[in-house]
Amino acid sequence: TILILDFGSQYSHLITRRIREFGVYCEILPCTQKISDLHFHPKGIILSGSPYSVYEQDAPRVDPAVFKLDVPILGICYGLQEIAFHHNGSIAPCDHSEYGHAWLSILKHQDHPLVDKLFENLGDLQVWMSHRDQIDKLPAGFRVVGKTLTSQYAAIAHEEKQIFGVQFHPEVTHTPLGKEILRNFVIGICQAQANWTMESFIDKEIARIRQIVGPNGQVIGAVSGGVDSTVAAKLMKEAIGNRFHAILVDNGVMRLNECETVKKQLGDHLGINLRVLQASALFLNRLKDITDPEKKRKIIGNTFIEVFEAEATKIDQETKEGNHGEIQYLLQGTLYPDVIESVSFKGPSATIKTHHNVGGLLENMKLKLIEPLRELFKDEVRELAKILGLDEELIWRHPFPGPGIAIRILGEVTHEQVAIARAADHIYIEEIKKAGLYRKIAQAYAALLPVKAVGVMGDRRTYEQVIALRAVETTDFMTADWYPFPYDILKRISNRIINEIKGVNRVVYDISSKPPATIEWE
Ligand code: XMP
Repeated sequence: TILILDFGSQYSHLITRRIREFGVYCEILPCTQKISDLHFHPKGIILSGSPYSVYEQDAPRVDPAVFKLDVPILGICYGLQEIAFHHNGSIAPCDHSEYGHAWLSILKHQDHPLVDKLFENLGDLQVWMSHRDQIDKLPAGFRVVGKTLTSQYAAIAHEEKQIFGVQFHPEVTHTPLGKEILRNFVIGICQAQANWTMESFIDKEIARIRQIVGPNGQVIGAVSGGVDSTVAAKLMKEAIGNRFHAILVDNGVMRLNECETVKKQLGDHLGINLRVLQASALFLNRLKDITDPEKKRKIIGNTFIEVFEAEATKIDQETKEGNHGEIQYLLQGTLYPDVIESVSFKGPSATIKTHHNVGGLLENMKLKLIEPLRELFKDEVRELAKILGLDEELIWRHPFPGPGIAIRILGEVTHEQVAIARAADHIYIEEIKKAGLYRKIAQAYAALLPVKAVGVMGDRRTYEQVIALRAVETTDFMTADWYPFPYDILKRISNRIINEIKGVNRVVYDISSKPPATIEWE
């Protein structure tokens, strides 16, 4: 394992990402992590960048024990400065803060072979800088292994201590050969093993789940048909069979045929012990007359909890009679980015963000959380999904919000409005798939607007509703851009929606980016 200590840089997770790509397992922990509390012995340590300056009063500090572990250390940006600071070098603000490309000249030291290993097989190269401070006095025993026009200590190394530092960011794609530098450090210098594969993850995780849950323990979890909850459920099934209870709540605002599809995929195809709760009428009843988006969210969230908990109690009763243990665990499909987001060295909030999907469940049910995917990135989950036998369709499904199409029907959510929105969305997605564009788009859906427009159909005046099509490109869903569809595809979609769906006489395409708009209309 490679340990990454995070000082709060926006790029920290990229370091993790790059190293996992070599097949080397690594963990990211807050920079304040006490080394004596570590549950593993790292093969190497990387100190990340940071928005702080080492001289600031409240600047984050690493546990000095890091430097006594006798394993290779690589400091990146602030990490480099932290190393220099700790070894009595000095750091000063740059004349101008440096942000952007720079050309790194590499200095070789033939008599110090370890020092040369960081840039092994590399010549001078383009790097990405983003810093306000830099070293202005090299600490004793360190050598310069790279410099740029403005930074004479752009890369340094200490042979005996096995400590390396770079002022630039090897983890970003703007440093095109940065991955090779990280590989040299992790594989060449730390000699970490490249044995992190999804197959090994499955075996390890199944064993871990069995150990946590015990021979009689029961686990409950909600599934939505999304890739995360499905993969988590399939892992649970592999680990504890029918002592895992998956629950799908049909809230009446899922997509067309979705409930059936999920039932087939999870229950029949993947063999997961699945209960489908038909609660459409209850949800739609409670949504009557509600037009405020946040109220819709709240009602759907609370009703979900109510239905889920009632079923959990029922399962508890049934299984007690069958001599099984109580339900003690709630399964969540939390991914690593959510965990990282909440790994913070600032203050007491170093807790993991929980229950985005099923807010409130834990408090009420006294259940402990079990999160088999908490070490994985989305693309790793997809790889896992493939190995576990999930259908391609499910693996690449666009994310779908918990409140479903209720937040894509502006205004009141009624049976009729749900039927129109569903039908339009179905045609839209079908045509996107036919055009081979589904995977190019991060998220697409049809929204039903609560306005009526005049039209003409077969010599008759119509007065009907408007469908707005939304499709965005994004990787993190924090910012997004609208997708530039070819006109002929928009034309086909529009024709089909207007001709096939009663109640719609106009289709518009949403060309707003996020920000200032959001991806959902509500
Ligand atoms: P916005 O509309 O905020 O959406 O740009 C960003 C991403 O979050 C999803 N989203 C939700 N997911 N419950 C969810 O589970 C919600 O209430 C919710 N609101 C938005 C949205 O679909 C997009 O992927």
